Amino acid sequence: MISLNREFLQRTGIVAMLITGLSLTISGCQNGGSDEILIGHYGSLTGSQATFGISTDNGIKMAIEELNAAGGINGRKVKLVTYDDKGEAREASTAVTRLVTKDGVVAVIGEVASGLSLAAAPICQEGGVPMISPSSTNPKVTKVGDMIFRVCFIDPFQGKVCAKFAREHESLKASKAAIVTDQGSPYSVGLEEEFEKSFVAFGGTVVSKQTYQAGDQDYSAQLTSIRAAEPDVIFVPGYYTEVASMILQARKLGMTQPFVGADGWDSAKLGEIAGDAINGCFYSNHYSQEDPSPKIQDFIAKYKAKHNETPDALAALGHDSAMILFDAMKKAGTLEGAAIAAELAKTKDFDGITGKISIDAERNAVKSAVMLEMKNGVPKYVATIQPGE
Ligand code: PHE
Repeated sequence: MISLNREFLQRTGIVAMLITGLSLTISGCQNGGSDEILIGHYGSLTGSQATFGISTDNGIKMAIEELNAAGGINGRKVKLVTYDDKGEAREASTAVTRLVTKDGVVAVIGEVASGLSLAAAPICQEGGVPMISPSSTNPKVTKVGDMIFRVCFIDPFQGKVCAKFAREHESLKASKAAIVTDQGSPYSVGLEEEFEKSFVAFGGTVVSKQTYQAGDQDYSAQLTSIRAAEPDVIFVPGYYTEVASMILQARKLGMTQPFVGADGWDSAKLGEIAGDAINGCFYSNHYSQEDPSPKIQDFIAKYKAKHNETPDALAALGHDSAMILFDAMKKAGTLEGAAIAAELAKTKDFDGITGKISIDAERNAVKSAVMLEMKNGVPKYVATIQPGE
Protein backbone atom coordinates (compact mmCIF):
# COMPACT_ATOMS: atom_id res chain seq x y z
CA MET A 1 0.00 0.00 0.00
CA ILE A 2 2.59 2.46 1.18
CA SER A 3 4.93 1.77 -1.71
CA LEU A 4 2.08 1.96 -4.14
CA ASN A 5 1.03 5.22 -2.69
CA ARG A 6 4.53 6.57 -2.78
CA GLU A 7 4.94 5.59 -6.38
CA PHE A 8 1.72 7.25 -7.24
CA LEU A 9 2.52 10.36 -5.26
CA GLN A 10 6.00 10.59 -6.65
CA ARG A 11 4.67 10.45 -10.10
CA THR A 12 2.17 13.16 -9.39
CA GLY A 13 4.78 15.29 -7.65
CA ILE A 14 2.73 15.51 -4.47
CA VAL A 15 5.44 13.87 -2.41
CA ALA A 16 7.64 16.92 -2.68
CA MET A 17 4.91 19.02 -1.16
CA LEU A 18 4.27 16.50 1.59
CA ILE A 19 7.95 16.31 2.49
CA THR A 20 8.18 20.08 2.71
CA GLY A 21 5.11 20.14 4.92
CA LEU A 22 6.48 17.36 7.10
CA SER A 23 9.86 18.95 7.67
CA LEU A 24 8.17 22.23 8.57
CA THR A 25 6.07 20.45 11.17
CA ILE A 26 9.11 18.68 12.59
CA SER A 27 11.15 21.84 12.96
CA GLY A 28 8.04 23.55 14.34
CA CYS A 29 7.76 20.84 17.01
CA GLN A 30 11.37 21.15 18.05
CA ASN A 31 10.82 24.83 18.39
CA GLY A 32 7.92 24.88 20.79
CA GLY A 33 5.20 23.38 18.69
CA SER A 34 4.57 26.43 16.57
CA ASP A 35 6.32 28.42 13.94
CA GLU A 36 8.15 30.41 16.60
CA ILE A 37 11.92 30.22 16.89
CA LEU A 38 13.06 29.43 20.42
CA ILE A 39 16.10 31.04 21.98
CA GLY A 40 17.29 30.43 25.54
CA HIS A 41 18.51 32.62 28.40
CA TYR A 42 20.03 31.40 31.66
CA GLY A 43 20.61 33.93 34.41
CA SER A 44 20.40 34.73 38.10
CA LEU A 45 16.83 35.88 38.67
CA THR A 46 17.13 35.22 42.41
CA GLY A 47 20.01 35.20 44.89
CA SER A 48 22.78 37.70 45.59
CA GLN A 49 23.31 38.51 41.89
CA ALA A 50 19.59 38.74 41.10
CA THR A 51 19.68 42.14 39.41
CA PHE A 52 22.18 40.74 36.85
CA GLY A 53 19.76 38.16 35.47
CA ILE A 54 16.61 40.27 35.80
CA SER A 55 18.09 43.25 33.97
CA THR A 56 19.56 41.03 31.23
CA ASP A 57 16.21 39.29 30.76
CA ASN A 58 14.42 42.64 30.50
CA GLY A 59 16.91 43.80 27.87
CA ILE A 60 16.57 40.61 25.82
CA LYS A 61 12.78 40.77 25.96
CA MET A 62 12.76 44.36 24.76
CA ALA A 63 14.91 43.34 21.80
CA ILE A 64 12.54 40.45 21.01
CA GLU A 65 9.50 42.73 21.10
CA GLU A 66 11.20 45.10 18.66
CA LEU A 67 12.21 42.24 16.38
CA ASN A 68 8.80 40.58 16.35
CA ALA A 69 7.01 43.88 15.77
CA ALA A 70 9.23 44.36 12.72
CA GLY A 71 8.41 40.92 11.29
CA GLY A 72 10.73 38.57 13.18
CA ILE A 73 13.43 36.48 11.53
CA ASN A 74 12.47 36.20 7.89
CA GLY A 75 8.82 36.19 8.91
CA ARG A 76 9.07 33.91 11.94
CA LYS A 77 8.63 35.24 15.48
CA VAL A 78 11.21 34.63 18.20
CA LYS A 79 10.25 33.32 21.62
CA LEU A 80 12.46 33.36 24.73
CA VAL A 81 12.80 30.55 27.27
CA THR A 82 14.47 31.81 30.47
CA TYR A 83 15.68 29.70 33.38
CA ASP A 84 16.79 30.99 36.77
CA ASP A 85 20.21 29.59 37.73
CA LYS A 86 20.15 31.35 41.14
CA GLY A 87 23.74 32.45 40.59
CA GLU A 88 24.98 28.86 41.05
CA ALA A 89 27.23 26.89 38.69
CA ARG A 90 25.31 23.62 39.08
CA GLU A 91 22.00 25.28 38.32
CA ALA A 92 23.56 27.03 35.31
CA SER A 93 24.68 23.69 33.85
CA THR A 94 21.28 22.12 34.45
CA ALA A 95 19.49 25.07 32.86
CA VAL A 96 21.65 25.05 29.75
CA THR A 97 21.46 21.26 29.37
CA ARG A 98 17.68 21.63 29.37
CA LEU A 99 17.72 24.49 26.86
CA VAL A 100 20.00 22.58 24.48
CA THR A 101 18.71 19.02 24.79
CA LYS A 102 15.02 19.38 25.73
CA ASP A 103 13.80 22.74 24.50
CA GLY A 104 15.89 22.64 21.34
CA VAL A 105 16.74 26.33 21.36
CA VAL A 106 18.69 27.59 18.36
CA ALA A 107 20.97 29.83 20.48
CA VAL A 108 21.62 30.65 24.13
CA ILE A 109 22.19 34.04 25.77
CA GLY A 110 24.00 34.09 29.14
CA GLU A 111 25.49 34.24 31.65
CA VAL A 112 26.53 37.49 33.25
CA ALA A 113 28.98 36.07 35.80
CA SER A 114 32.08 34.58 34.19
CA GLY A 115 32.10 31.59 36.54
CA LEU A 116 28.60 30.61 35.42
CA SER A 117 29.35 31.16 31.73
CA LEU A 118 32.39 28.91 32.17
CA ALA A 119 30.22 26.24 33.81
CA ALA A 120 27.70 26.10 30.97
CA ALA A 121 29.65 27.04 27.84
CA PRO A 122 30.96 23.48 27.23
CA ILE A 123 27.35 22.26 26.98
CA CYS A 124 26.60 24.74 24.18
CA GLN A 125 29.90 23.99 22.49
CA GLU A 126 29.27 20.24 22.52
CA GLY A 127 25.65 20.68 21.47
CA GLY A 128 26.65 22.88 18.54
CA VAL A 129 24.43 25.67 19.84
CA PRO A 130 25.88 29.20 19.71
CA MET A 131 26.11 30.93 23.10
CA ILE A 132 26.53 34.68 23.54
CA SER A 133 27.51 36.01 26.92
CA PRO A 134 26.32 39.59 27.16
CA SER A 135 28.71 40.52 29.94
CA SER A 136 31.18 37.86 31.13
CA THR A 137 34.56 39.56 30.92
CA ASN A 138 36.95 36.75 31.91
CA PRO A 139 39.08 35.80 28.87
CA LYS A 140 38.61 32.04 29.42
CA VAL A 141 34.90 32.13 28.56
CA THR A 142 35.21 32.38 24.77
CA LYS A 143 38.24 30.07 24.77
CA VAL A 144 35.84 27.19 25.46
CA GLY A 145 35.28 26.94 21.71
CA ASP A 146 34.09 28.36 18.42
CA MET A 147 30.41 28.37 19.47
CA ILE A 148 31.03 30.81 22.34
CA PHE A 149 30.85 34.57 21.84
CA ARG A 150 30.58 37.71 23.93
CA VAL A 151 29.52 41.29 23.20
CA CYS A 152 31.59 42.96 25.95
CA PHE A 153 35.26 43.79 26.47
CA ILE A 154 37.54 41.48 28.46
CA ASP A 155 39.36 41.84 31.79
CA PRO A 156 42.95 42.36 30.63
CA PHE A 157 41.57 45.65 29.30
CA GLN A 158 39.24 46.34 32.23
CA GLY A 159 41.96 45.66 34.83
CA LYS A 160 44.32 48.04 33.10
CA VAL A 161 41.64 50.73 32.88
CA CYS A 162 41.03 50.50 36.63
CA ALA A 163 44.74 50.50 37.51
CA LYS A 164 45.51 53.49 35.31
CA PHE A 165 42.53 55.35 36.70
CA ALA A 166 43.56 54.62 40.31
CA ARG A 167 47.08 55.87 39.57
CA GLU A 168 46.15 58.95 37.55
CA HIS A 169 42.72 60.30 38.33
CA GLU A 170 43.02 63.64 40.12
CA SER A 171 41.03 62.64 43.20
CA LEU A 172 42.90 59.32 43.57
CA LYS A 173 46.55 59.57 42.45
CA ALA A 174 47.12 56.36 44.39
CA SER A 175 50.60 54.95 44.89
CA LYS A 176 49.58 52.24 47.40
CA ALA A 177 46.68 49.88 46.72
CA ALA A 178 45.02 47.12 48.72
CA ILE A 179 43.06 44.44 46.85
CA VAL A 180 40.22 42.26 48.13
CA THR A 181 39.37 39.25 45.94
CA ASP A 182 36.48 36.77 45.92
CA GLN A 183 38.61 33.65 45.66
CA GLY A 184 35.75 31.45 44.41
CA SER A 185 35.00 33.69 41.44
CA PRO A 186 37.01 33.33 38.22
CA TYR A 187 36.00 36.90 37.36
CA SER A 188 37.36 38.30 40.61
CA VAL A 189 40.57 36.26 40.58
CA GLY A 190 41.31 37.10 36.94
CA LEU A 191 40.62 40.79 37.34
CA GLU A 192 42.73 40.98 40.50
CA GLU A 193 45.71 39.65 38.53
CA GLU A 194 45.21 42.10 35.68
CA PHE A 195 44.79 45.05 38.03
CA GLU A 196 47.86 44.18 40.09
CA LYS A 197 50.04 43.67 37.03
CA SER A 198 49.03 47.04 35.58
CA PHE A 199 49.10 48.96 38.85
CA VAL A 200 52.69 47.85 39.42
CA ALA A 201 53.63 48.53 35.78
CA PHE A 202 52.30 52.07 36.20
CA GLY A 203 54.60 52.55 39.22
CA GLY A 204 52.27 51.71 42.11
CA THR A 205 52.69 49.22 44.97
CA VAL A 206 50.21 46.66 46.26
CA VAL A 207 50.45 46.84 50.05
CA SER A 208 47.79 44.32 51.07
CA LYS A 209 45.97 41.40 49.42
CA GLN A 210 42.91 39.92 51.10
CA THR A 211 40.29 37.37 50.07
CA TYR A 212 36.63 36.62 50.80
CA GLN A 213 33.95 34.21 49.62
CA ALA A 214 30.65 35.12 47.97
CA GLY A 215 28.01 35.22 50.68
CA ASP A 216 30.38 36.41 53.44
CA GLN A 217 28.80 38.89 55.85
CA ASP A 218 31.73 39.96 58.00
CA TYR A 219 34.79 41.63 56.51
CA SER A 220 36.32 43.01 59.70
CA ALA A 221 39.42 40.79 59.66
CA GLN A 222 40.35 41.77 56.07
CA LEU A 223 39.54 45.42 56.62
CA THR A 224 41.55 45.61 59.84
CA SER A 225 44.68 44.37 58.14
CA ILE A 226 44.11 46.67 55.18
CA ARG A 227 43.75 49.60 57.57
CA ALA A 228 47.14 48.78 59.07
CA ALA A 229 48.76 48.74 55.60
CA GLU A 230 47.55 52.31 54.93
CA PRO A 231 46.67 52.07 51.23
CA ASP A 232 45.53 55.11 49.23
CA VAL A 233 42.90 53.07 47.44
CA ILE A 234 41.14 49.70 47.89
CA PHE A 235 40.36 47.69 44.74
CA VAL A 236 37.51 45.18 45.02
CA PRO A 237 36.77 43.19 41.83
CA GLY A 238 33.57 41.70 43.25
CA TYR A 239 29.79 41.72 42.83
CA TYR A 240 27.51 44.40 44.25
CA THR A 241 26.01 42.59 47.26
CA GLU A 242 29.34 41.82 48.94
CA VAL A 243 30.97 45.07 47.81
CA ALA A 244 28.20 47.19 49.33
CA SER A 245 28.40 45.57 52.74
CA MET A 246 32.22 45.61 52.72
CA ILE A 247 32.26 49.36 52.11
CA LEU A 248 29.65 49.98 54.80
CA GLN A 249 31.81 48.06 57.27
CA ALA A 250 34.98 49.90 56.24
CA ARG A 251 33.35 53.25 56.98
CA LYS A 252 32.20 51.96 60.38
CA LEU A 253 35.84 51.10 61.08
CA GLY A 254 36.74 54.70 60.33
CA MET A 255 38.43 53.95 57.00
CA THR A 256 38.01 56.83 54.57
CA GLN A 257 39.91 55.51 51.52
CA PRO A 258 38.10 55.47 48.18
CA PHE A 259 37.20 52.02 46.86
CA VAL A 260 37.59 51.24 43.18
CA GLY A 261 35.87 48.36 41.42
CA ALA A 262 34.70 47.10 38.06
CA ASP A 263 31.54 46.12 36.19
CA GLY A 264 30.51 43.61 38.88
CA TRP A 265 29.46 46.60 40.99
CA ASP A 266 26.80 47.60 38.49
CA SER A 267 23.42 47.36 40.15
CA ALA A 268 20.87 49.82 41.52
CA LYS A 269 21.21 47.78 44.73
CA LEU A 270 24.81 48.97 45.23
CA GLY A 271 23.76 52.50 46.13
CA GLU A 272 20.61 51.30 47.89
CA ILE A 273 22.59 49.08 50.28
CA ALA A 274 25.71 51.20 50.77
CA GLY A 275 24.03 54.62 50.89
CA ASP A 276 26.41 57.52 51.55
CA ALA A 277 29.24 55.15 52.51
CA ILE A 278 29.99 54.59 48.82
CA ASN A 279 30.10 58.24 47.75
CA GLY A 280 33.40 59.04 46.07
CA CYS A 281 34.06 55.43 45.03
CA PHE A 282 34.60 54.57 41.35
CA TYR A 283 33.95 51.63 39.04
CA SER A 284 34.47 50.73 35.40
CA ASN A 285 31.47 49.81 33.28
CA HIS A 286 30.12 49.14 29.79
CA TYR A 287 27.94 52.23 29.39
CA SER A 288 26.80 55.32 31.22
CA GLN A 289 23.15 56.19 31.77
CA GLU A 290 24.13 59.82 31.30
CA ASP A 291 25.47 59.35 27.78
CA PRO A 292 23.57 61.92 25.69
CA SER A 293 23.61 59.80 22.49
CA PRO A 294 20.03 59.53 21.15
CA LYS A 295 20.35 55.75 20.81
CA ILE A 296 21.10 55.39 24.53
CA GLN A 297 18.56 57.96 25.70
CA ASP A 298 15.86 56.39 23.56
CA PHE A 299 16.62 52.96 25.02
CA ILE A 300 16.53 54.40 28.55
CA ALA A 301 13.18 56.12 27.94
CA LYS A 302 11.61 52.92 26.56
CA TYR A 303 13.00 50.81 29.39
CA LYS A 304 11.85 53.28 32.04
CA ALA A 305 8.35 53.37 30.60
CA LYS A 306 8.19 49.57 30.96
CA HIS A 307 10.09 48.88 34.17
CA ASN A 308 9.97 52.19 36.02
CA GLU A 309 13.73 52.22 36.57
CA THR A 310 16.86 53.28 34.73
CA PRO A 311 18.44 50.36 32.86
CA ASP A 312 21.84 49.27 34.13
CA ALA A 313 24.62 47.98 31.85
CA LEU A 314 23.23 44.44 31.99
CA ALA A 315 19.93 45.52 30.45
CA ALA A 316 21.80 47.30 27.66
CA LEU A 317 24.14 44.35 27.08
CA GLY A 318 21.23 41.89 27.14
CA HIS A 319 19.57 43.96 24.43
CA ASP A 320 22.78 44.17 22.39
CA SER A 321 23.48 40.44 22.57
CA ALA A 322 19.95 39.62 21.37
CA MET A 323 20.15 42.14 18.52
CA ILE A 324 23.48 40.76 17.35
CA LEU A 325 22.08 37.26 17.47
CA PHE A 326 19.03 38.26 15.37
CA ASP A 327 21.28 39.96 12.85
CA ALA A 328 23.34 36.77 12.50
CA MET A 329 20.23 34.58 12.28
CA LYS A 330 18.80 36.70 9.46
CA LYS A 331 22.06 36.58 7.55
CA ALA A 332 22.53 32.85 8.10
CA GLY A 333 19.15 32.18 6.50
CA THR A 334 19.00 28.88 8.42
CA LEU A 335 18.69 27.98 12.10
CA GLU A 336 21.66 25.67 12.00
CA GLY A 337 24.11 26.39 14.87
CA ALA A 338 27.29 26.41 12.81
CA ALA A 339 25.78 28.77 10.25
CA ILE A 340 24.60 31.22 12.93
CA ALA A 341 28.02 31.03 14.62
CA ALA A 342 29.73 31.77 11.31
CA GLU A 343 27.63 34.93 10.92
CA LEU A 344 28.17 35.96 14.56
CA ALA A 345 31.91 35.73 13.95
CA LYS A 346 31.59 38.21 11.08
CA THR A 347 29.85 40.89 13.21
CA LYS A 348 31.44 44.25 12.41
CA ASP A 349 30.61 47.75 13.64
CA PHE A 350 27.21 46.68 14.89
CA ASP A 351 25.53 49.77 16.30
CA GLY A 352 24.62 48.64 19.84
CA ILE A 353 23.37 50.50 22.91
CA THR A 354 26.76 49.90 24.53
CA GLY A 355 28.70 51.14 21.51
CA LYS A 356 29.96 49.83 18.20
CA ILE A 357 30.46 46.08 18.47
CA SER A 358 32.92 44.13 16.33
CA ILE A 359 33.67 40.49 17.08
CA ASP A 360 37.38 39.68 16.85
CA ALA A 361 39.10 36.42 15.94
CA GLU A 362 38.82 35.21 19.57
CA ARG A 363 35.03 35.88 19.50
CA ASN A 364 35.38 38.82 21.90
CA ALA A 365 34.18 42.38 21.41
CA VAL A 366 36.64 45.25 21.32
CA LYS A 367 34.99 48.26 22.95
CA SER A 368 35.59 51.28 25.14
CA ALA A 369 34.95 51.33 28.89
CA VAL A 370 33.59 54.12 31.08
CA MET A 371 34.56 55.08 34.63
CA LEU A 372 31.71 56.06 36.94
CA GLU A 373 31.71 57.74 40.35
CA MET A 374 29.09 56.97 42.99
CA LYS A 375 27.34 60.16 44.11
CA ASN A 376 24.24 60.13 46.31
CA GLY A 377 23.58 56.49 45.54
CA VAL A 378 23.84 56.72 41.73
CA PRO A 379 26.73 56.27 39.28
CA LYS A 380 27.85 59.49 37.59
CA TYR A 381 29.88 59.56 34.39
CA VAL A 382 33.58 60.44 34.79
CA ALA A 383 35.51 59.29 31.72
CA THR A 384 35.58 57.08 28.62
CA ILE A 385 38.64 54.93 27.91
CA GLN A 386 39.25 53.59 24.40
CA PRO A 387 40.82 50.15 23.88
CA GLY A 388 44.06 51.50 22.46
CA GLU A 389 44.70 54.06 25.20
N1 PHE B 1 31.91 41.03 34.03
C1 PHE B 1 31.34 40.31 35.13
C2 PHE B 1 31.86 38.88 35.09
O1 PHE B 1 32.47 38.50 34.16
C3 PHE B 1 29.84 40.32 35.10
C4 PHE B 1 29.17 41.66 35.06
C5 PHE B 1 29.16 42.42 33.90
C6 PHE B 1 28.49 42.15 36.16
C7 PHE B 1 28.54 43.67 33.85
C8 PHE B 1 27.87 43.39 36.11
C9 PHE B 1 27.91 44.16 34.95
O2 PHE B 1 31.67 38.11 35.98
